[in-house]
Amino acid sequence: MTEAVRPRASPGPTGRQGEGQIITLQKRPFAEPARQRGTAPRGLDTLALAASLLLAACGDHAAAPHPDRRQDPDVRGAIDFDAAARTGRFTPTDLVGFRALPRYSEPDWVTRDFVRTGRLPPVAQRLPREPLVYGPGAMPDGPGVYGDVLRQVTGGRPEGWNYSAGQSQGWGGIDLATMECLTRTGPLFLVDPARLEPLPNLARSWQWSSDGHQLTMQLVEGARWSDGHPFTSDDVMFYWTDNVLDSNVSPLNGASPDSFGPGTRLEALGPYTIRWTFQRPFPRDYLYQMAYGKFCPGPAHVLRPLHPRYNPRSSYQAYKLAFPASRMNFPVMGAWVVTEYRPDDILILRRNPYYWKVDARGRQLPYLDEVQYRLLGWSDRDIQVMAGGSDLANVDAPATFAEVLRGAARPGASYRAVFGPRTIAYAVQFNLSGNGWGSPDARGQAIRQLNRDVRFRRAVSLAMDRVALGATQIGGPFIKPYPGGLLESAPFYDAAASRRYGYDPVAARALLAELGLVDRDGDGFVNHPAAQLGGANVTIVLTASPDSVIERSLAEGIQMLARDVGLRVVLRFASGPQRDALRASGQFDWVLQRNETTELNTVVQGADALAPTGPFTHAYHRAGPSGRLDLLPHERRMLDLVRAFIATPDQGERRRLMRLYQQVSTENVDAAGLIQYSGGVLIDKRFANVPVGTPVIMFNWAEDAIMRERLWVPRARQSGYELRPHTLPGCFACGGEKR
Ligand code: GLA
Ligand code: CA
Repeated sequence: MTEAVRPRASPGPTGRQGEGQIITLQKRPFAEPARQRGTAPRGLDTLALAASLLLAACGDHAAAPHPDRRQDPDVRGAIDFDAAARTGRFTPTDLVGFRALPRYSEPDWVTRDFVRTGRLPPVAQRLPREPLVYGPGAMPDGPGVYGDVLRQVTGGRPEGWNYSAGQSQGWGGIDLATMECLTRTGPLFLVDPARLEPLPNLARSWQWSSDGHQLTMQLVEGARWSDGHPFTSDDVMFYWTDNVLDSNVSPLNGASPDSFGPGTRLEALGPYTIRWTFQRPFPRDYLYQMAYGKFCPGPAHVLRPLHPRYNPRSSYQAYKLAFPASRMNFPVMGAWVVTEYRPDDILILRRNPYYWKVDARGRQLPYLDEVQYRLLGWSDRDIQVMAGGSDLANVDAPATFAEVLRGAARPGASYRAVFGPRTIAYAVQFNLSGNGWGSPDARGQAIRQLNRDVRFRRAVSLAMDRVALGATQIGGPFIKPYPGGLLESAPFYDAAASRRYGYDPVAARALLAELGLVDRDGDGFVNHPAAQLGGANVTIVLTASPDSVIERSLAEGIQMLARDVGLRVVLRFASGPQRDALRASGQFDWVLQRNETTELNTVVQGADALAPTGPFTHAYHRAGPSGRLDLLPHERRMLDLVRAFIATPDQGERRRLMRLYQQVSTENVDAAGLIQYSGGVLIDKRFANVPVGTPVIMFNWAEDAIMRERLWVPRARQSGYELRPHTLPGCFACGGEKR
């Protein structure tokens, strides 16, 4: 598809040079042979077809001569065409390593205005002894030059900065620009699936004990928070002991003791060494959990003094709210620091002068001095890129796909579109707890009992006209019916293993009748048996988010399709954090859910989320007041399969187990899959180092996968969008005053 949407013929080396210079789309269509292995995403050729159809419709299919990128002084000699833009062929060490370099540098203005004036120590003293160095695999266009800005849009709003206590920074990648974690997985789409292992990050290396019960990790030594305070095992231990293990605190993204296995212990052996002790031998899967968002420590030096365990005048609520969105310069380990905030308008992030990652020439990253987030709506993201008001956006709702692709194909388009495999899906999740989780009332409990009956779930699945639901979003082959379970883009996915319940409202009604659910009062909706709830109409509350167009329209579609088989569905729209809270506390009958986590895409990352592996870990089946789960027979099977999967490194066996998993999950309609589709990433053409094939979500959202800290802009193409040139984050501890 990228072949088809490539930037249009620039007239040659003297034309709009940047157009093709830093972009490798021309050379490598998505479905290149290197990607055609067993685990490669399927369905790309259909997408390519869709794109070429779209392009044919716009009459734009001229071949582009490949401009010589070496013409540009900024990229001359820096291009390794063969390293560029190939996914799935690197090892982790091609991407990152840790070593000392002979010299380090930074933007001239930082040295001039901050180091020479005594406001900052020299760059070499601000970096770890052995900083993280990006390898050639992470630099498809080579090391870059400093300057310029990345403009993004988010539909979220910052609640505050204490993500360790559950506050969201406003999503859309603000989280990913500021948080750093023990390991990192977003860029793993670049890594050969046979050599998959999370990338080192704050944990620079690790070793297993011979019995596999202990994992010792070395932390990067000499890294600092953005305010200059040293990062050590103290930060790690504070996060673990006083946030994850403290049941009064719920970190953003839901880390709990269970996330790393029951009975797991963590201790510091020194300022730069930590040791895990696990009950299960070699739980390598936890290395994935240590990436975003389950193990990204916050700054203990500013958080601890406000934690009630250390401050008798504080409370858990006060701790959570201690760093409101208006408080600037909250210390981070990420590449940029939030330095300005105007509600419903903009967030400005400036480069972190203590960022601990460098390029192979010793240039401290990031290359981009500023990141801006306009605070608009979710559907403004792609619109803004198309209009030239934003540089990078995830297109995760199909309604605008055609426009986006047409826009990208237009001669002189300022942005390009990268579409990946179908890694996004929507499903209806049934609350499967019959145990009082979320304290349902009598109606809610009656719905739980129905949810727990496989005939009911099948009836719901048979009522779903997936083709129609997809067609309300966009025509063409972008969208496919989703039977539930793993996504078709996932490794280990076997299409033949899926049980598909095609649209069959007659069969759905027959199943409902079998359950005693018939319309006794002639109003078109089936009733409970007379002895239950006074024989009232069966009424199901579907929780969904009103924030995205696709979710709203899917919810309405489900409501209509359910009505056709006599099920009364009431829509409860709850925005962002509120919806998340309802879901996490079990207060729902059904929830319309996009895959926000990655187990359905990657299987290996977060595999334990594929079944209720712990009492409080699963998305739609958790323990009630008794602390115990009440698993259904098919859930027990899924649980056994997932446990066996996690325990074996044998690829053949893993494939077999996931085939069975897919069968059990879809046969029993563990959740009612609806549609699956590919999403895209839009990026302004002035940026270099964007790997082709960056998926909108795979191991993480694109903002992490794309590694924004190594994006750069050739000097001749740098924009004038910077709002706060030559400034750095101010001093946090001294109350917002500038350094
Ligand atoms: C939201 C957006 C995603 C992505 C993530 C990043 O969930 O919908 O596209 O930007 O935030 O956290
Ligand atoms: Ca009725």
